[in-house]
Amino acid sequence: EAMWDQEPKSLEDLNAIIAKAGPLVLGATQAVFGEGPAHAEIVFVGEQPGDQEDLQGRPFVGPAGKLLTKAMKEAGIDREQAYLTNAVKHFKFEQRGHRRIHSKPTAGEVKHYRPWLMKELELVKPKLVVALGATALLALTGKATPITRSRGRARFGPYEGYVTVHPSYLLRLPDEATKREAYEAFLNDLRRVHDLAK
Ligand code: URA
Repeated sequence: EAMWDQEPKSLEDLNAIIAKAGPLVLGATQAVFGEGPAHAEIVFVGEQPGDQEDLQGRPFVGPAGKLLTKAMKEAGIDREQAYLTNAVKHFKFEQRGHRRIHSKPTAGEVKHYRPWLMKELELVKPKLVVALGATALLALTGKATPITRSRGRARFGPYEGYVTVHPSYLLRLPDEATKREAYEAFLNDLRRVHDLAK
């Protein structure tokens, strides 16, 4: 394909290309690559690395990642056996005092990273691809679609898919009762994901 000087033949090749390209917007410490077995059965796609992910160079290690890891475990999914990645591979933020506040990637940014995500899927060849939230869904389909309308089973090109909310959405909910209810619905999605990937 024309977009590659040298077509990546492995995740290592692909990651080297992403690292060399660098962030679209300056500020990120490093690229955060996908993590997990090279031929995992399930790939989880998030939005973009957050503050902790940027510092540690690993996906889903901050507050949303901890919640996702807990929910995976409760749903019977071993995080170590899954492949976790993001639509966008660099953290983007607004500085507020000492804090770096995550800013949502634009559609243009999602598009920029999309061929790399598609190549990543091609290399891992999972049974099931899980979109966590609207940005992942946009990256996987090329179309902006609300999560509420597409939640559940899906098809992403050649891959069987599943659409659910992003774990950070659960953290942002205002009251405990709503939070608990939304977490239960998320758990039910992950239980179905677990069943579909069997
Ligand atoms: N949110 C994401 O979408 N991805 C991460 O890796 C962490 C938080």
